[in-house]
Amino acid sequence: MKTEVAIVGAGPAGLLLAHLLARAGVSSIVVESRSREYVAARIRAGILEHSSVELLTEAGLGDRLHAEGDEHRGVYLQWPGARHHLDFVDLAGRSVWVYGQTEVQKDLVAARTAEVVYEVSDTALHDVTTDRPYVTYTDRDGRPGRVDARVVAGCDGSFGPSHASVPGEEFARAYPYSWLGVLADVAPSTDELIYAWHPDGFALHSMRSATVSRLYLQVPNGTDPGQWSDQRIWDALAARLGHGQDGWRLKPGPITEKSVLPMRSHVRTSMRHGSLFLAGDAAHIVPPTGAKGLNLAIADVVLLSRALVALLREHDTRLADSYSDDALRRVWRATHFSWWMTSMLHTSGDPFDAQLQLSQLRWVTSSRAGATGLAENYAGLDLAH
Ligand code: PHB
Repeated sequence: MKTEVAIVGAGPAGLLLAHLLARAGVSSIVVESRSREYVAARIRAGILEHSSVELLTEAGLGDRLHAEGDEHRGVYLQWPGARHHLDFVDLAGRSVWVYGQTEVQKDLVAARTAEVVYEVSDTALHDVTTDRPYVTYTDRDGRPGRVDARVVAGCDGSFGPSHASVPGEEFARAYPYSWLGVLADVAPSTDELIYAWHPDGFALHSMRSATVSRLYLQVPNGTDPGQWSDQRIWDALAARLGHGQDGWRLKPGPITEKSVLPMRSHVRTSMRHGSLFLAGDAAHIVPPTGAKGLNLAIADVVLLSRALVALLREHDTRLADSYSDDALRRVWRATHFSWWMTSMLHTSGDPFDAQLQLSQLRWVTSSRAGATGLAENYAGLDLAH
């Protein structure tokens, strides 16, 4: 097959890139190792920054988001005995939207703009330092396949083959704890997300809809979710989220999904090698504490689609040449913010750390400057930045 852009990976980064390119008249073919059903069911974070919502809306993908998503003015930050609301609209002029990555993925699949070959194996990238790169694979029936292109976009996450073809430095940070995440069939016990510091460990009350809650507990690395019965989970959430504090109650319900997520930061420099460009998790991973992963992928893809349209339509190489630096500036900002939120909210077991965290939380919730810093980063910078 021949196309202009061969895209490896049909997650949100790959499908959104194909969609934006198609709208500008640039052809692409996407190859994906998983099945359509697997990719669509994958559970990921659920917060969209203001600029992500604007972009999806402009791209014609905002109908269900506006009908079914939930706009939030801010979040709650709390620790034992105190709960504070930070109003991002008031502080930074921006709201955020609760709309799961699973839903964004469904909207992208429903738009049917991308031509996707699912369930391929042995995907390999070739000649990426020339202007005739190509991708080979084995299709689901065991036949060899090949996509010839002008450019390859690696949107295949941290386990895909693309990033290994980009030489450069790799910066990484592993965190000494994980999250136990659950989905529960129960109405959220809060109108907006609660981020809770607690001596037993961090907890987060998020949500997916008016009837589905998403909750997380800090747990030690290597935790087996089987060790956590539903009762133990609800007891820990109630303690850490402050059930009974000022009359607030956490309503438990049936848990439908339970999994442990590692926490790590990972940034690759560069995001380009010749005709190969990386976007999303293939280039960087953030811990989930600031809900930045999907938003960063969307921001990368916006920059990349503009760069590729200029390159392939006008033979203008400037945006392609600055893509890696432009994208990495935002990536490092989000990486710092995610690290900062993570470090402020997770207990390390060190009592000195605990006092610093509580002092930081008091400052962030009582100083307008402190609160505005968090709000600007959480609700997101302009895509133009
Ligand atoms: C989620 O809803 O899954 C979620 C929300 C906020 C976060 C992380 C995850 O910071």
